[in-house]
Amino acid sequence: MTKPKSPAPQNITSMLQEERLFPPPAEFAKRAHVKSMGQYKKLYRESIEDSEGFWGRQANAELVWIKPWKEVLRWKAPNAKWFLGGQLNVAANCLDRHLNTPTANKAALIWEGEPAAPGQMGEERVLTYQQLHREVCMFANVLKRNGVGKGDRVIIYLPMVPEAAIAMLACARIGAVHSVVFGGFSAQSVADRIFDCQAKLVITADGGYRRGSIVPLKKSVDEALVLKDATGALLAKTIEKVIVLRRASNDIHITEGRDVWWHRELEYVDANCPAAKMDSEAPLFILYTSGSTGKPKGILHTTGGYLLGAKMTTKYVFDIQETDVYWCTADIGWVTGHSYVVYGPLANGATSLMYEGAPNHPEPDRFWRIIAKYGVTILYTAPTAIRAFMKWGVEWPKKHNLSSLRLLGSVGEPINPEAWMWYHEVIGGGRCPIVDTWWQTETGGIMITPLPGATPTKPGTATLPFFGIVPEVVDDQGNPVPKNSGGKLIIRKPWPSMLRGIWGDPERFKQTYWSEVQGAYFTGDGCRQDKDGYFWIVGRIDDVLNVAGHRIGTAEVESALVSNQKVAEAAVVGRPDELKGQALVAFVTLKTGIKPSHAIRDELRAHVAKEIGPVAKPDDIRFAEALPKTRSGKIMRRVLKQVAAGVEVKGDTTTLEDFSVIAKLVAAED
Ligand code: WTA
Repeated sequence: MTKPKSPAPQNITSMLQEERLFPPPAEFAKRAHVKSMGQYKKLYRESIEDSEGFWGRQANAELVWIKPWKEVLRWKAPNAKWFLGGQLNVAANCLDRHLNTPTANKAALIWEGEPAAPGQMGEERVLTYQQLHREVCMFANVLKRNGVGKGDRVIIYLPMVPEAAIAMLACARIGAVHSVVFGGFSAQSVADRIFDCQAKLVITADGGYRRGSIVPLKKSVDEALVLKDATGALLAKTIEKVIVLRRASNDIHITEGRDVWWHRELEYVDANCPAAKMDSEAPLFILYTSGSTGKPKGILHTTGGYLLGAKMTTKYVFDIQETDVYWCTADIGWVTGHSYVVYGPLANGATSLMYEGAPNHPEPDRFWRIIAKYGVTILYTAPTAIRAFMKWGVEWPKKHNLSSLRLLGSVGEPINPEAWMWYHEVIGGGRCPIVDTWWQTETGGIMITPLPGATPTKPGTATLPFFGIVPEVVDDQGNPVPKNSGGKLIIRKPWPSMLRGIWGDPERFKQTYWSEVQGAYFTGDGCRQDKDGYFWIVGRIDDVLNVAGHRIGTAEVESALVSNQKVAEAAVVGRPDELKGQALVAFVTLKTGIKPSHAIRDELRAHVAKEIGPVAKPDDIRFAEALPKTRSGKIMRRVLKQVAAGVEVKGDTTTLEDFSVIAKLVAAED
């Protein structure tokens, strides 16, 4: 394995020149959970200097324990155990604890389905805490009836419907370990994941709606269950039962004895289901995520520490208050959907909104229509979505009253300052703070982020660490680099919601995360700290290029490109170059109505030269109608690198949203 090299000091003018500073609005400084930098700093210091005392107090204040814990942390790198001796139940912390409070009759989930005519709204469902509790208990009994017990693995392969949250919470209630597979993944991915975690049962739906058509989920499960490995052995031989939710009413095949309908099963159970007593370190879920090499890794999260992280970050970062209508647009198939659609908001007794479908169905104003209809106060979405909204034009948000919004969030990739400013002005009306939250599937919860009542923000930086988190930017030897210099982002201290391993592969766990810098967690991201100590994520280190001895962050060049009025989206990759080591290739999608030309190509090269420096000028600019993306919206640079290098596109493309994009990119070269 070649070790990723840290990005050396590079041309950072664009970041260092960022002088716009947005202090917390007065309302936040008055009412937020953390009201000033002074208060943040005091709590942060406490969380580092006496971290066990801090986390111990938080665990007692925030969570309901069935049996109190005895020891805060047992740490033998890379293995952490939090709140040893303690027992609790995640579903009880998200539901039961609210039942004898006024929260019982508050909306826990507000859901809107995708199908809708232009100008119309979709189907709507609201589940109060009491109702959600009942549904979860009943479905937990369905799981038991179908042979699921403590520790068994369950695959959840559902569309964005309330039943996805119900299924997750039902697993947690009986101590089963869920592994949610994004509804856009293929049969092969389902089979691989079943095999890897040896799952016993699959929960799916007949179909789900996406951008106006039906995704045949049950059909994919049927295919997954007969797929074989190279030796001819069935991958999914551990599966005993499939529970099928009726959602899209498309035709499906039911295999007698194996497949059962969700609604029929409910006829056999009642709503009495005690919450299982789970050890703090009992596995809660496995979530598969791509690494830079090899097959997806099953990231393991456990009970007490994960829930504490999800709950506290939701409370402090989104400043959740009683009356908020909170909407995280992530799919339940991603970690953001786990921590910030389901566990974090519900543990806080918040109202969490779920939307089933695409942001541009039936028209590009669907999000804004939803915000106006439900009075959404907090919106948490991804830069890639924001750039799409920019491309579609301001007329769509302008048609709706977005004045209920009070806080905006961003996650998943570095947000370029132009997108940040657009989000701030057009969506936030200039009044909403933006929390740019940096974290990973592996970290379980938000790690670097502004707190909206305390931290002055700057467009493009996730700012400062959350309580108890010690990030550091280091060089290849693991030594801290000076301010403003690029390096590897590592995390020094263990934290409660950290991953506990890669399912079934302790060696890979050690290699991937704990072998770069002794005793520290390696994030895989490049980063630099500015003079205020703010962390600027440059992007994955494997996306950092070396052009003629200059290290250039692809994210930085992309940000420069996107800051040009004509550009909707850009992805930059390296291509081997005899003279310079690597040459920069930019794939650019222009805004609607703008035609590619030599003149625009020259203009963009000059623009990048102006923004960053001549060294960052793309050697090659290729115009594309769309960029290849994973279904979570991440640009697949690995694919672009292969296209840029003119080699055949190889490797795992099962996470690609739309394969035809690659065909078009390649064809454009011919
Ligand atoms: C990137 C998503 C810059 C980063 C929660 C990280 C970000 C990877 C940000 C994890 C952000 C996430 N600014 N980069 N605010 N948030 N990233 O596991 O490269 O899907 O390592 O988790 O996304 O992606 P994952």
